[in-house]
Amino acid sequence: MALLTVENLRTTFRTDDGPVGAVDGVSLSVDAGKVLGIVGESGCGKSAMSLSIMGLLPKTATVEGSIRLGERELIGLSGSELRRLRGDDMAMIFQDPMTSLNPVMRIGEQLIEAVRLHQKVSKVEARQRAVAGLAAVGIPSPEDRMRSYPLELSGGMRQRVMIAMALLNRPRLLIADEPTTALDVTTQAQILELMRDLRSEVDAAIVLITHDLGVVAELCDEVAVMYAGRIVERATVDELFAHPQHPYTWGLLASLPGRNLASERLHQIPGTPPSLLRPPAGCRFAPRCPFAMDVCRADPAPALTSTGRGSAAVACHLTQDVRDREGARLSGEEQA
Ligand SMILES: Nc1ncnc2c1ncn2[C@@H]1O[C@H](COP(=O)(O)OP(=O)(O)O)[C@@H](O)[C@H]1O
Ligand SMILES: [Mg+2]
Repeated sequence: MALLTVENLRTTFRTDDGPVGAVDGVSLSVDAGKVLGIVGESGCGKSAMSLSIMGLLPKTATVEGSIRLGERELIGLSGSELRRLRGDDMAMIFQDPMTSLNPVMRIGEQLIEAVRLHQKVSKVEARQRAVAGLAAVGIPSPEDRMRSYPLELSGGMRQRVMIAMALLNRPRLLIADEPTTALDVTTQAQILELMRDLRSEVDAAIVLITHDLGVVAELCDEVAVMYAGRIVERATVDELFAHPQHPYTWGLLASLPGRNLASERLHQIPGTPPSLLRPPAGCRFAPRCPFAMDVCRADPAPALTSTGRGSAAVACHLTQDVRDREGARLSGEEQA
């Protein structure tokens, strides 16, 4: 059963220039024990979506639609109800660990406080859980680290502390928003490995947000490709790599390292994503799409439609024949 169900989510920021539709009608669901990847370029609304789910948006934002954790509707909950859910039923890992760590408080105090905020346990018990939490994310000498301040640790160790903090109360839903983007390549690989280990131990539904399809391939069960506030393609990871359907997905695949030059040139995505202040009238990807037809510039993209292969769905005016053919070109090279 789905642990997280998002239906027709619309998140709009009020700005001096007008409303910015950061999330524009997104629907998705994640089962317990599964990892859903959300992939898309910077500015496509990934963080706005995760903050909407966590109830952490600024006051300038409005949220419409439905976000359910199990049976419970989250939209419309009060600040205090959401605070109770956060860190308990659901937790978030950010790109910058200092978003959730307090620089002037020792790590141990922060972890103990996080446990005691949500669970009625003694200070001794909370401390034991904090140390165990640090050990579980591979922090050496966790007892000593309890006395450290966040800025005394390396970026990778800080990221581990934040992950430990997010997992302390065994959340049912974990959202990781670009957890490795700010790290160097080696540390990135270590944190990904940690997340992979945790995925089997923590029986949570995980939403992993990234701009990198390579990360998706390593960690996720399913993937939703986002472009300009909308999901343009959704599939299991195997299906996405075997039969990629949307021209934007082809572009993301072509930009993965180790691709063949011919496919790179054919599928690479020129230009930049549109402004969400005034998005294009037709398909939002049409201005950058090498395959765009007149209908793509005139009419909005169709709703996500099943490709007939499992749960896979795509929002594109191209015929399935064309999508299968072009997709096969890329996935064929993948296997070659
Ligand atoms: N607090 C905010 N106020 C106004 N616009 C915002 C705010 N946060 C994000 N946006 C806009 O919403 C869109 C989506 O941003 P974001 O969710 O951060 O994208 P991503 O996480 O995919 O990079 C962007 O156009 C961004 O400029
Ligand atoms: Mg973001």
